[in-house]
Amino acid sequence: MADTWGRFEGRVALVTGAAGGIGAATARRLAAEGAAVIAVDIADEAGEDLAWSITRAGGRAEYRHGDVTSAAMWSELADHVRDRHGRLDVLHSNAYAVVVKPAHELAEEEWDGQLAVTLKASWLAVRALVGDLAASGGSLVLTSSVHALVGLPGHPAYAAAKGALCALGRQLAVEYGPQVRVNTVLPGPILTPAWDRVDAAARADSIAGTVAKRFGTPEEVAAAVAFLASADASYITGATLVVDGGWSVLKDSA
Ligand SMILES: NC(=O)c1ccc[n+]([C@@H]2O[C@H](COP(=O)([O-])OP(=O)(O)OC[C@H]3O[C@@H](n4cnc5c(N)ncnc54)[C@H](O)[C@@H]3O)[C@@H](O)[C@H]2O)c1
Repeated sequence: MADTWGRFEGRVALVTGAAGGIGAATARRLAAEGAAVIAVDIADEAGEDLAWSITRAGGRAEYRHGDVTSAAMWSELADHVRDRHGRLDVLHSNAYAVVVKPAHELAEEEWDGQLAVTLKASWLAVRALVGDLAASGGSLVLTSSVHALVGLPGHPAYAAAKGALCALGRQLAVEYGPQVRVNTVLPGPILTPAWDRVDAAARADSIAGTVAKRFGTPEEVAAAVAFLASADASYITGATLVVDGGWSVLKDSA
């Protein structure tokens, strides 16, 4: 497999929202570097395809159906991790949900649903598995967003959840260090299936808003996640890493 230099040889990694986009790229990257990957998602066909493609390429991966908002799912998954793998070294909490509407138009269940997938799920994951990460001297990586830093119309619950993830990451780093390192990535515009519902003009605006003048790739975020999860980042915890092609530092007004 490409990019194999074994930073995760003998390690076990769990990735949520792994059936597509950034999660799938992270699953592939960690597997390419030697990890046995547990890919969790609710999109079963794409998740099975991912696990199959990793296995076919010589890596180790299994797909597990799991709604990250379910505490019962996390409890069963933790049992599975212990029974089947006996350890957990990397947890990438990455699934999300968004409903694009201004705050005053959001239904209460739309607010709650976004917070559940995008924020609460990371806490449920930690509650179920932080002991296993601590036992292996492991690492947690949360996927936030540049929405944690700036306001974009129509994303009130998503932005609130992504901002809270940055705070949660710092908090967890303090609570569970030095055994567990916890870091957060903040992607900017990354070309994943999430952009399928965005029209061409809005896509062009997003690209123009980056210094790089292009979308990022899921693989570029996966590389950052793998770095933060690896021993190369052994003195990095409680950090936020923006991966946005300069989107958050570019302003075109005086
Ligand atoms: N793509 C971008 O431009 C961008 C920018 C900033 C942040 N992000 C963040 O990156 C992460 C990945 O986004 P992506 O662009 O790869 O999206 P994506 O839509 O390609 O993948 C998200 C995955 O999460 C899964 N998922 C949704 N609800 C779930 C649930 N309840 N339980 C389990 N899995 C569930 C989906 O089935 C999907 O496979 C998200 O946290 C997102 O907020 C993405």
